[in-house]
Amino acid sequence: MINLISHSENETKELAKKIAKDLKPGDVIVLTGELGSGKTKFTEGFLSYFNLENELSSPTFNIVNEYDTPNFPIYHFDVYRLEDIDEFYAIGGEEYFSSGICIIEWGEKIEEALPPSYLKISFSRNYENESIRNITIENFGNFPIISV
Ligand SMILES: Nc1ncnc2c1ncn2[C@@H]1O[C@H](COP(=O)(O)OP(=O)(O)OP(=O)(O)O)[C@@H](O)[C@H]1O
Ligand SMILES: [Mg+2]
Repeated sequence: MINLISHSENETKELAKKIAKDLKPGDVIVLTGELGSGKTKFTEGFLSYFNLENELSSPTFNIVNEYDTPNFPIYHFDVYRLEDIDEFYAIGGEEYFSSGICIIEWGEKIEEALPPSYLKISFSRNYENESIRNITIENFGNFPIISV
């Protein structure tokens, strides 16, 4: 487990870029943490590693959005508004896991559908300083330990 502190939105995006460089299709990243904690900003940084920074569309209306790199797709999920896990199965959610890199905001809500190996990144706010986030990175199953 890695614990670190981000002091700004930009630092969170830079962290995401460092993580992005080590990932490959089939990898699943769960982003967890309260509203406004930085999950989408992290995703923006992640996509910018693949030169997709201007294309982030809000998944507010779609549960999942697809972004194409030259070699594989990236699927950005926000499962906050799913009623239950069956809704995730109904959209064929699991089929995305093997086809590209999946980044799943609020992924703990679909925990039982997750593959055995994934990377979980948790964000928490600091109520004394609006720009600080505590970030924890944990690998589950045999997901490789990443360096940041
Ligand atoms: N260190 C930081 N890292 C990331 N975001 C930060 C940081 N400091 C301040 N912010 C601000 O916090 C907000 C994070 O918003 P973001 O949309 O990424 O949250 P979220 O976790 O995706 O929320 P939601 O659960 O509603 O989707 C942004 O307005 C961003 O500018
Ligand atoms: Mg978000």
